[in-house]
Amino acid sequence: MTLPSSTVRESSLAQAEKPADADAFGCFVTGTDTEKGKTQVSSALLIAWGRRGLRTVGMKPVAAGTEHHGDSKVNEDVECLKAASTVQAPPEWVSPYLWDDPIAPHIAARQAGVQMDPQVIVRACRALFQRADVVVVEGVGGFCVPLSDSVNMADVARQLNLPVVLVVGLRLGCINHALLTNEAIAARGLRLAGWVANTVDQHMPYMAENIATLAAALPAPLLGHIPRLGSREKHEAADYLDLSLVPEWRTYLSD
Ligand SMILES: Nc1ncnc2c1ncn2[C@@H]1O[C@H](COP(=O)(O)OP(=O)(O)OP(=O)(O)O)[C@@H](O)[C@H]1O
Ligand SMILES: [Mg+2]
Repeated sequence: MTLPSSTVRESSLAQAEKPADADAFGCFVTGTDTEKGKTQVSSALLIAWGRRGLRTVGMKPVAAGTEHHGDSKVNEDVECLKAASTVQAPPEWVSPYLWDDPIAPHIAARQAGVQMDPQVIVRACRALFQRADVVVVEGVGGFCVPLSDSVNMADVARQLNLPVVLVVGLRLGCINHALLTNEAIAARGLRLAGWVANTVDQHMPYMAENIATLAAALPAPLLGHIPRLGSREKHEAADYLDLSLVPEWRTYLSD
């Protein structure tokens, strides 16, 4: 068998078995599709909590697409989350399944002859909770992206049992995608903690009316509307989020 082209990092997880710190909290960030702003919003959440002095770490349990940086291979999302985090953690915790090719992860795994195991992700996440006050887990693509013939990322979200933040990429068609995603979240017994309207198409007709329709239909607060930001303004996305709208997060906001 040829060696997998991925980095499958299961080695040092044995130490990750302790239960999470009671004061730690987190969320699972999903989106209406790929490239709709999950990394942008995950980073913004990490930055917002970091500004409040909390120890934060981002996790991208399944990532596809690497590029060479010197001697190492890196994934853009993982690097963004690291840059937004205030504590660093071993790569096998932050990105346990990292595939080289920017393709559907279950196909990358199959090509490599590797079965992605949700329990590896759950243990890595628990390990991160030992090190940080806040763990933000970014999903991959949309909510139900397959990891194999029998497991998808929604199953992983269910096992992580974190409140979900849905990033709605504002463009024509997003209402349907958002409602379907909300149904899939509810069907797994997960709670939608909030959603973020992220401007993908800044010329979207009737944008405000679309947001109002979503606000009426989704069973969770709109945490913020992020406009289309220039490349120098992207770190400002945190300024558009109101974390006090998630009841269990309010306790961490008092100064
Ligand atoms: N509000 C915004 N203003 C400007 N650029 C944005 C905004 N939101 C996202 N982008 C850009 O759009 C691209 C896709 O966003 P992002 O990487 O956050 O999506 P994603 O859902 O995480 O994608 P993936 O499925 O690949 O993980 C990135 O280049 C990001 O910088
Ligand atoms: Mg991303």
